[in-house]
Order: sequence, then structure tokens, then C-alpha cells
Amino acid sequence: MTSSIKVVGLGGSLAHASSSLAALRITLEGADKAGAVTELLDVRELNLPMYDPTEKNPPDSVRQLCKAVENSHGLIWSSPLYHGTISGAFKNALDWLQLLSTKNPPYLTDKVVGLVGAAGGGHGLQAINTMEFVVRALRGWAVPLVVPISRSWAAFDENGGATDPKLVQQLHSLGEEVTRMARRISIEPLTGNKVTTQLRKR
Ligand SMILES: Cc1cc2nc3c(=O)[nH]c(=O)nc-3n(C[C@H](O)[C@H](O)[C@H](O)COP(=O)(O)O)c2cc1C
Repeated sequence: MTSSIKVVGLGGSLAHASSSLAALRITLEGADKAGAVTELLDVRELNLPMYDPTEKNPPDSVRQLCKAVENSHGLIWSSPLYHGTISGAFKNALDWLQLLSTKNPPYLTDKVVGLVGAAGGGHGLQAINTMEFVVRALRGWAVPLVVPISRSWAAFDENGGATDPKLVQQLHSLGEEVTRMARRISIEPLTGNKVTTQLRKR
């Protein structure tokens, strides 16, 4: 049984004050409360180059991202809604996870993912739905609880605190749920079983 569960948060925008980043921080508090070791990867701070499939020697920022994700049991993804989908900067970070294709197990096998979408209007769920496609493509497990945030410009104060205590509760619950499920999966890792082996051969 894995004694410490690691939950990595990836998200935020390139904006100086980012509501998707604020939401990510609060969600990681929930994971921390549930006993996980947490790490935050801020898309703005990572400052990743555009994904290049021919790049043989990616920079440290890319290595940091891939190492953190590889060593995690659970992930929280938090993207802004841009033009009805996830932002380009966030998708670019996900594209770099292609470097995990050669790992054993590959991609996000056995990893649990919690999803948050921050929208200026009321359609944050569209970003979440897009992210869920990516989780499945990368062989991860999205938890059923998701947090779409509407009117993001009013949802957080200038210190990144949520203006509605209910939102804090929802984000904390998501962090707790990812930690709980990551812990359950890590009790009996699925790696090496028949399904995973077949997937690896694709
Ligand atoms: C380029 C761009 C496109 C956007 N498209 C949408 C959209 O389609 N629907 C929506 O509700 N909000 C949209 N917004 C508003 C953002 O979702 C909102 O400002 C969000 O909080 C941005 O995330 P951030 O605070 O982490 O930067 C858009 C904002 C930008 C800058």
C-alpha cells in the first residue's frame, strides 16, 4: 500500500490574476486536508515552449511538468474557458504529456483526475468536458465530481479567495475526492493486468 498520496495541480492562465489558478489552489487545500502531499504547477510560471513532436531535448520546464505528473497518484486540472473550450496554453501543457507515452505504465495509467473550469459566463462545463476527453485519451480516471465556475470575475477576490463559501466547499470536496480515489487505486495498482498490457500494445 502506498503510504503517501501525491496530488499535483496543473492549471491557471497567463493572466497575472487568474481565477482558474485561484480555484486550483483551493482545490489543492482539499487534497492537503485529506492527507495528500500536493504540488502546484502554474501554467504561467512553467512558461512552456510550444509542443514540438520532434524535440529530442526538451527544456527543464517540460521535464519538471512530466516528472511531477509521472510521480503523482492524482491530478487536479483547472483551465479557463476560452472560446468554448480549454485555453491554448493549458492544452499545450497537456500536449507535452505525450513524453509520458514511453513510460511503464504510459501516460496517466492508474491516475485519478479532478476537473475545474473557470468561465466568464455560465459554460465552464464545456472546458471540463474537453478535459475529460483528454483524460480518457491519456488513460486516466476522471472523478465524477467536477467544479464548473461561472462569472469567474466575481467568484474570487484580489487575494484569490473565493467570494462564496459554497465554492470553497465544492473545490475542497473535489480535492478530497481525488485523494480518496487515488488512495484506493494505489492500494492495488492495476499496472501489469491484462487490460493495461493490451492497451500498451496499441
Ligand atoms: C480569449 C478569451 C476567450 C474567452 N472565451 C470565453 C467563452 O467562450 N465563454 C466564457 O464564458 N468566457 C470566456 N472567456 C472568459 C474567461 O473564461 C474568464 O475570464 C476566465 O476567468 C479566464 O480564466 P483566468 O481568470 O484563469 O485567466 C474568455 C476569455 C478570453 C481571454
